[in-house]
Amino acid sequence: MPHVDVEGRLFHYRERGTGPVALFVHGFPLDATLWLDQLAGLAERRRCVAVDLRGSGLSAPVAGEPLTMERHAADLAGLLDRLEAAQADLIGLSMGGYIALAFAERFGHRLRSLALADTRSGADSDEGKAGRDAAIERVLAGGRAAFAETMLGALLGPHPTPEARARLRTMAETTPYETIIGALAGMRDRPDRTAVLATVPVPAAVIVGADDTVTPPAVAEEMAAALPDATLHVIAGSGHLTPIEQPDAVNEALGALFDRAGA
Ligand code: MLT
Repeated sequence: MPHVDVEGRLFHYRERGTGPVALFVHGFPLDATLWLDQLAGLAERRRCVAVDLRGSGLSAPVAGEPLTMERHAADLAGLLDRLEAAQADLIGLSMGGYIALAFAERFGHRLRSLALADTRSGADSDEGKAGRDAAIERVLAGGRAAFAETMLGALLGPHPTPEARARLRTMAETTPYETIIGALAGMRDRPDRTAVLATVPVPAAVIVGADDTVTPPAVAEEMAAALPDATLHVIAGSGHLTPIEQPDAVNEALGALFDRAGA
């Protein structure tokens, strides 16, 4: 399984397929296995690369550093350099979407297309920020296992398959507590990037589970309307984790985006 050194730090990624690079960015507290069905289903269209973000999955661990969206976006640019990809189709889910918007803000010229799945462009509300602080306290007091349990209830739709539950549980239970805390702080402090949407220079897709309660369809509709060239895909039978809850529908939406983006 490939690792790559980006400015002295090791990143792990999974890849399948050949052609232009499509870069998949996972959410929180997840890892690159979120995208296994997309790597399998889209390999004939793209060189599909799913990265483990700094501190997640099999990438190098972190200790006590804030995991800002800007830091992750710079890591993605460094990874694309190492893959010798001037541009990429960028697909981000939830926190991965926050990162994708930070990337679009700074590296818009490197996008071939942009897919925002189950995410939002706005910042945390004051209540949301307080919730992040409370979650950090909970993880410090009770460890990551109890935190993973709360994620199971919050992220999946009302009727998840046993496979989707197992995949989520595995990702959440293996994310180090240092990464959980760094990510909660990074998400709490991220700025509102709604203004970035209008500047996205490439075809875009906004994907959302019809039963997503974390970033609901109304939020996705607003983002799609603000993007210059976007299609909206509301996916029935899914909560917040569309790639594992309804992988075929997500692959169909991304395939249509790749058609619009060309090679
Ligand atoms: C995620 O799935 O990445 C998180 O739910 C995002 C968040 O907590 O804002």
